[in-house]
Amino acid sequence: MFGISTDITEQKNLENKILAQKHFLDTILDNVDAFIFMKDKNRVFRYVNSKVAELFQLPADEIIGKVDTDIIPKEVADSFWESDLEVLTKLEKISTEEYFEDENTKRYYWSVKIPYTLEDNTPTVLGFSSDITLLKQQEDELKAKDRILYHQAKISTMGEMIENIAHQWRQPLTLISSAATGTKLKNEMQILDNEELIENMENINNQAQYLSNTIEDFRSFFLSDNYNIKKVNIKNSIEKTSTLIKDAFSDLNINFVINIEEEIYFKCNENLFIQSLINILNNAKDALKEINELDYDKYVFLDLISDENNYIIKITDNGYGIKDENLEKIFDPYFTTKHKSQGTGIGLYMTYQIIIKHIKTEIEVKNVEFEYKDKTYKGACFSIVIPKSNITFK
Ligand SMILES: Nc1ncnc2c1ncn2[C@@H]1O[C@H](COP(=O)(O)OP(=O)(O)OP(=O)(O)O)[C@@H](O)[C@H]1O
Ligand SMILES: [Mg+2]
Repeated sequence: MFGISTDITEQKNLENKILAQKHFLDTILDNVDAFIFMKDKNRVFRYVNSKVAELFQLPADEIIGKVDTDIIPKEVADSFWESDLEVLTKLEKISTEEYFEDENTKRYYWSVKIPYTLEDNTPTVLGFSSDITLLKQQEDELKAKDRILYHQAKISTMGEMIENIAHQWRQPLTLISSAATGTKLKNEMQILDNEELIENMENINNQAQYLSNTIEDFRSFFLSDNYNIKKVNIKNSIEKTSTLIKDAFSDLNINFVINIEEEIYFKCNENLFIQSLINILNNAKDALKEINELDYDKYVFLDLISDENNYIIKITDNGYGIKDENLEKIFDPYFTTKHKSQGTGIGLYMTYQIIIKHIKTEIEVKNVEFEYKDKTYKGACFSIVIPKSNITFK
């Protein structure tokens, strides 16, 4: 018998050391809060850590060795591959935003991808991604809030206020000035009798009173705070809404037909409630403004109706309605079909937020065809649905 023995202690030690290091690395890779993967130029996964396995809902060793399209839907895989390929061709590190969507959620990732060459010279891309969905949501919410604030600030600016007031002041101002000049003229011609003088002065005073009231309406609307929740008489709120917009409507020959019989109350912030109605009414006005047909009678109806469980505020116009393909989008922020200078697309988004989140009721929209005074019309119909359980009668 002849034997040769070699001392492999050192080799063994080295092996153990490597194993320990690999274990150390695996522990880190599997516990770090990031998705780590490695892919080669054939789109085959060479490595995934346990977070990736969890995300794709497969054990890691069933993913490794497979092509990405076998694991995830092709469109998603293709979109990931776009930046992977860029790394492989340019051999440069890139950072990019990606998303992954399944049936119910869409998640965003911030990914850093670097070129990495394996021992056998296979070029691969090594990626690290972290989930930034929450950040994205917060960012979007902040953006939306900012825009709303901006819009609220915009509508409360002096410019618009003055425009609205100007509508309402034109007529009384004309009356005041003609009463004053008429009185003066008659006095100069010495044909002014006492009775007429008093009548004219009273007239001027009445008009001035009216001016003072309208400015008060605007002042209280624009200046009152948004947190004040109290029991609100729906009929009153709608009358206030009407005073704020009626002159702008009549300038465009729009008939505003209000039909409310019952006096009902519900708790809300009246100002926001009025704002949400104004946004709907302004859109009806915008739609009707576009109609140039001669002799077309323009209408906006506001009705309060009820069914078994709800009271419903219905606002219907005869402005031909909303394109069917847009019906789903009109409550989205920034959705508008108007020219940039005319619409930001925030009006109905704001209304929706107020009705759903603040007043906690529902809003629905549909196109309707209806008859009025023997004519058939088409238009949009918005319904604010308030459950009877939220309503009181005094
Ligand atoms: N009564 C309506 N008739 C026809 N289209 C409407 C009506 N109401 C809303 N729309 C459509 O819905 C879109 C979104 O309305 P929204 O009030 O959110 O934005 P906007 O009016 O375009 O702009 P903003 O209100 O911010 O000035 C409008 O651009 C319009 O296309
Ligand atoms: Mg609008």
